[in-house]
Amino acid sequence: MLTNAQRDIIKATVPLLETGGEALTKHFYKLMLQGYPQVRPLFNQSHQTSGSQQRALAEAVLTYARNIDHLEALGPLAARIVNKHVALQILPEYYPIVGTCLLRAIREVLGPEVATDAVVEAWGVAYQQLADILMGAERKAYDALASAPGGWRGARAFRVARKVKESAEVCSFYLEPVDGGPVLDFKPGQYIGLRLCVHGSEIRRNYSLSAAPNGCSYRISVKREPSGVSSNFLHDEVPEGGILQVFPPAGEFTLNESGKPLVLISGGVGITPTLAMAEAALSRGERHVIFIHYARNALVDAFTDVLKAWSARFAQFKSYVVYEEAQLGGAPVPDGVGRPTLEQLRQWLPAGGDFDAYFLGPKPFMAFIKRSLRELGVPEDRSRYEFFGPAEELN
Ligand SMILES: Cc1cc2nc3c(=O)[nH]c(=O)nc-3n(C[C@H](O)[C@H](O)[C@H](O)COP(=O)(O)OP(=O)(O)OC[C@H]3O[C@@H](n4cnc5c(N)ncnc54)[C@H](O)[C@@H]3O)c2cc1C
Ligand code: HEM
Repeated sequence: MLTNAQRDIIKATVPLLETGGEALTKHFYKLMLQGYPQVRPLFNQSHQTSGSQQRALAEAVLTYARNIDHLEALGPLAARIVNKHVALQILPEYYPIVGTCLLRAIREVLGPEVATDAVVEAWGVAYQQLADILMGAERKAYDALASAPGGWRGARAFRVARKVKESAEVCSFYLEPVDGGPVLDFKPGQYIGLRLCVHGSEIRRNYSLSAAPNGCSYRISVKREPSGVSSNFLHDEVPEGGILQVFPPAGEFTLNESGKPLVLISGGVGITPTLAMAEAALSRGERHVIFIHYARNALVDAFTDVLKAWSARFAQFKSYVVYEEAQLGGAPVPDGVGRPTLEQLRQWLPAGGDFDAYFLGPKPFMAFIKRSLRELGVPEDRSRYEFFGPAEELN
């Protein structure tokens, strides 16, 4: 339990975290990933190289310090961390490692004059308090996932029942549990974790579920990234019949149940969770669904047949596609060419901004969509997005 004096110390470190938080978390990850090889497979090396994970952790520590007197304000942040941890199976035994490395990083980055024994002690108690909150929420989530119909704990073996090429760079994997049992119904928009062994090394990656829940199988759709470890392995070395180790679904970028029109906007492979959301909404009834997809060109545009079929079958479904590059021969003819524009959105979305919007794609794309939706009058809490990696600031 933090004393009042320790709370004051945590609050006093806020300015240091504002300016030096990233240097601290950078050093923290260096210490942890070098000193504790057992946690290396949990982390995506490219998020370390880009610095996005260091920034996400620095932002979280700063938010925690700022709200040390109002822990209830941490709700959305804690939910995001817990979901990401759950889909990667972060277990309680790892927390002491993080605590030890964080305190060592505080001492080494801030130096003995700032990081006095009292400061380090206060951060030790504060870390344990946050760790207890996260571990408690994660334990509840693991228990709920294990006890739900079709649920499980840890990794479960799934067979690749079908592999379908959706475009020049996206391939779908239809996954059925090897044990033949039912599979947990997830919330459209959620993702699973995969534990892969690639050329002798373990890695973990998240993939959004790209089809609505059906009780017996899952579908993920993976874009081949240049030199990407997991995506190239899945495309090239996991055949139909291959076995994948799957962690249960998690994620808080999920479809709400309002009757307002549903607007789904995606860039590139960001289409995957929006497909599951559209399919679920269409199967449930009359909700109006507007689906806008931006792709580089016709060759990499995936799921055109699915969108065409939904347009023919459901009067309440309307889809638009825009290619950045003028069409490289063949169908379909896009509804627009070039980068996204405010004018397109104004033209295709219901006037007045009274709808629920979900969007996902590269960061500059999402920043533009967020600004545009604001301009069109969509309230912040009905304009939702997710990153295919650690969350970042969009403004
Ligand atoms: C919630 C969530 C949902 C997701 N859903 C999907 C989905 O539905 N479909 C999908 O395809 N992906 C999805 N992703 C992304 C996915 O998890 C992987 O990040 C993606 O497949 C790339 O992994 P990889 O191992 O192939 O590439 P990585 O090996 O992680 O590399 C990624 C990129 O970084 C570059 N890179 C790596 N290391 C370095 C370095 N040292 N220096 C410079 N560049 C480097 C690589 O060349 C590559 O282009 C999701 C991610 C999250 C967090
Ligand atoms: C109080 C302790 C912790 C805090 C505050 C914390 C915070 C965070 C944050 C902010 C993210 C990014 C979430 C997102 O936006 O995607 C994250 C992701 C992650 N965390 Fe934690 N975490 C803690 C403990 C741990 C522990 C003990 C482990 C295991 C060693 C761990 C492993 C991970 C992994 C593997 C990711 C995903 C990283 C990636 O994408 O490469 N975390 N955590």
